[in-house]
Amino acid sequence: MKQQLTIALSKGRILKETLPLLAAADIVPAEDIFSSRKLIFDTNHEHIKFVVIRATDVPTYVEYGGADMGIAGKDVLLEHGAEGLYEPLDLKIARCKLMVAGMKDAPPVEGRMKVASKFVNVTRDYFAAQGRQVDIIKLYGAMELAPIMGLADRIVDIVDTGNTLRANGLEPMETIADDISSRLVVGQASMKMKYQQIQPILDKLADAVAAREAGETA
Ligand code: ATP
Ligand code: PRP
Repeated sequence: MKQQLTIALSKGRILKETLPLLAAADIVPAEDIFSSRKLIFDTNHEHIKFVVIRATDVPTYVEYGGADMGIAGKDVLLEHGAEGLYEPLDLKIARCKLMVAGMKDAPPVEGRMKVASKFVNVTRDYFAAQGRQVDIIKLYGAMELAPIMGLADRIVDIVDTGNTLRANGLEPMETIADDISSRLVVGQASMKMKYQQIQPILDKLADAVAAREAGETA
């Protein structure tokens, strides 16, 4: 008999791109996730379930074994920390950068810089590694507003096209990570206990990612 396997999916922006990859690996939800209020979904495999949760909660579920594996942005994983997690596969979706940004043509900051972000650990580590002392202000969204309202001198946020920065009179200033994308994570305990079931899924997903990339570059 196969052991039960739970896969945690980030709801929101990356779910739409995640499902086709899982489908290519022959794992399909039994009902439409987008039109349901459910949190747990059966799939076409009796022993595989999806849980659909906030992106930031995915590594927590996988670390503590509430889910065996999950899909989350590298930004979320950097912020969470790698403890208890393997990160065996880059799904190469939702590519973007983590950057420091501020008001366009802002003069250099005198004294201690105030930095607003939801990525407080990443921000602390980035500036500390450079020996720069900053005050970090935790926000949960719309970081671009903080410098406009005088709440902070800089922000640390995701940048893709740069449209959100430009639309709000900000500009990118420093790159913290230029290789952000969604990653498959597996709990270290699950990998040990359920290797026989997890490894074939990893292989199929890796093939799906490669096929998708080949299609994109063809
Ligand atoms: P939460 O709901 O937990 O607050 P969130 O709102 O950041 O998380 P989403 O906006 O759905 O979640 O983003 C999910 C992931 O998509 C992010 O962690 C990041 O890796 C990636 N991402 C976010 N914004 C962009 C963007 N503009 N372009 C490409 N990828 C992005
Ligand atoms: C993300 C991010 C930036 C924006 C960057 O926001 O926080 O605001 O995308 O993308 P761009 O460079 O292409 O403009 P999102 O749309 O996910 O909103 P949220 O942060 O409020 O969830």
